[in-house]
Amino acid sequence: MNHHKRVLAGQTLHPESLMMGYGYDPALSEGSVKVPIFQTSTFVFRSAQHGKEFFELVAGLRELRENEQPGLIYSRFNNPDLEILEDRLTVWDGAEAALVFASGMAAIATTLLSVARPGDVVFYNAPIYGGTETLLMKVLPQFGIQGFEFAGNLEPHEVEARLAEARAACGPGGRIAAFMLETPANPTNDLVDIAHCAELAAGLHDQPGGRPAVIVDNTFLGPLWQAPLAHGADMVVYSLTKYVGGHSDVVAGAVLGARAALKPIRSMRSALGTMSDPHTGWLLMRSLETLELRMTRAGENAAKVAGFLANHPAIEKVGFLGHLAEGSREADLYARQCSGPGSTISVYVKGGEAEAFALLDRLSLIKLAVSLGGTESLASHPAAMTHIAVPAERKRRFGLLDNLVRISVGVEHPDDLIADLRNALS
Ligand SMILES: Cc1ncc(COP(=O)(O)O)c(C=O)c1O
Repeated sequence: MNHHKRVLAGQTLHPESLMMGYGYDPALSEGSVKVPIFQTSTFVFRSAQHGKEFFELVAGLRELRENEQPGLIYSRFNNPDLEILEDRLTVWDGAEAALVFASGMAAIATTLLSVARPGDVVFYNAPIYGGTETLLMKVLPQFGIQGFEFAGNLEPHEVEARLAEARAACGPGGRIAAFMLETPANPTNDLVDIAHCAELAAGLHDQPGGRPAVIVDNTFLGPLWQAPLAHGADMVVYSLTKYVGGHSDVVAGAVLGARAALKPIRSMRSALGTMSDPHTGWLLMRSLETLELRMTRAGENAAKVAGFLANHPAIEKVGFLGHLAEGSREADLYARQCSGPGSTISVYVKGGEAEAFALLDRLSLIKLAVSLGGTESLASHPAAMTHIAVPAERKRRFGLLDNLVRISVGVEHPDDLIADLRNALS
């Protein structure tokens, strides 16, 4: 039996069905219905010759032969829990291959270190998750790689003008190495046009080393409500800590894309040791079985919560993708790019930090914690927490305001969530 079969009697199987067994052969594991946890650091070779051949592959000294399965060597390079998880992740995004990492930041950092060299510029939208901002503005510059941002809410011709400035900022021999896009952006829910950025990247085909890679952080809507590869992205990155893990009990990340595009990232992951581990891989496979159920319920709840907040007198504005003004640039982009508004809401209270903190401190069912995409609802203050390291002037420019509270809506009963918010706002 082919354990990578996606069609059954003419029926193309849906991702939620494939999550139960895709990529796994029970016969290799005593008939166990579930993938066991391969809690081992190393694997016994059948012969010294086999060991040599496996290492030739990992070292990039030869290509995979026809019908050859890459052998298991050592859990920094590969492990069944990680490989089966990677196969399952490809299903949702329509990707050829995937790599899993110890965290979302490990995935992003390993990817950028694979595509950028000293003198290069990474063109990214702001705001962006605070950890990614720190990587681009503080860490990568120490290695000669500069981040150059454009505001996520710019008109297309303004993005083009910023890109021209970014090109001028490249060092000697440098290039635009990548577009690093996060859409919707954390924490404002700004949308960035992936297809337009892919066109701009294609326009740079004549720079040394060819066109830049278009990398999209799909953590906020993926994999259910946005498929960046279908809009021209080369790679999709995830914090699997969020919706995919979904229970706020693991930290992990992933990169998806064409096998050839991931090859240097795989080598970099092996060299840096930024891979995930067998137990986390096993937990994530368990999570994937209920991903569609959890995300669907969270999305339904978020629409109800956002509707309640939008009409509350203590709230100035609600940033929710289900509430975009008809005919606006964002609404048009949303219709082209997304298939659901997600469950993360940007709530602007009337007042400033004091009023935002008062709301956070009075919540009870909704927990005061950073992160998102879990079964339980969480609320946080981005300007004082996840994005605290962003300088004040940039915070103002990119909408990281003191009155902004971010709420990640979970799968509790929506009436209870609304009761908690009503009570906290009263
Ligand atoms: C959009 C986004 N990308 C990446 C990350 C980083 O992920 P991790 O915490 O798994 O390293 C986060 C974390 O909040 C995030 O919100």
